[in-house]
Amino acid sequence: MRIGIIGGTGVYQLGDSAVAPVAVETPYGTALLARVSLGDRELLFVPRHGSHHQIPPHRVNYRANVMALKQEGCRCVLATNAVGSIRRDLPPGHLVLPDQFLDFTRARPLTFYDGEDSGVRHVDVTEPYCPVLRDKTVQVVTGKGEPIENGAVYVCTEGPRFETPAEIHMFKQLGGDLVGMTGVPEVVLAREAGLCYATICVVTNYAAGIADQPLTGGEVGELMSRRLPFLREVLVEVARTLEEDWECSCP
Ligand code: HPA
Repeated sequence: MRIGIIGGTGVYQLGDSAVAPVAVETPYGTALLARVSLGDRELLFVPRHGSHHQIPPHRVNYRANVMALKQEGCRCVLATNAVGSIRRDLPPGHLVLPDQFLDFTRARPLTFYDGEDSGVRHVDVTEPYCPVLRDKTVQVVTGKGEPIENGAVYVCTEGPRFETPAEIHMFKQLGGDLVGMTGVPEVVLAREAGLCYATICVVTNYAAGIADQPLTGGEVGELMSRRLPFLREVLVEVARTLEEDWECSCP
């Protein structure tokens, strides 16, 4: 079985056997993808921001990344995202699996169904994040003695700037729990491609206005480096212990 892993901020390699990414061509452009074998499984790893974090959130080629994983035969995608927390009870360091999103992006190619040759299709996103992948992740994380929140509303902003406290206040009133810049359209494209998708969000900071001080990119990077060994362990363990096949409505 082939499993796609999309690494977010701080996750640029997967495990000791990580190899240099190779270019995979898609109709939407080129994706960089590293193959990591894991027993009878093959992990196809895409560093979302490039190997050196050179691609900002609004310029990530989400379509090429997801299509490359589809083309290479993946059944599912497990991703990671660094996020700010809108909730005091989800402090920095905490792991969270969103089950819903609010889309505040503005200027990104957002679909494979762009009319003309690609057709028109309105994909259902009642349950955007695969419940089976989420349950498996909960099992692995709790089995390692750590807490994880299963179910939260991820708010995706356009970035690359952080939010104003007024925006965070608005997101909170709308029911948002986490804020990040890269969760959408990735989750939607995975659904359009018929891939199961879930993302492990790592809270790196309290969101603007909830934090006592202004946010810095350094703060996000530091927290991610601290959580990276555990996050890698979880990604590999989920991929290693996933059932060969399962029933869910994602495909
Ligand atoms: N806002 C948006 N994106 C983020 C944040 C944040 O507070 N932290 C990590 N990614």
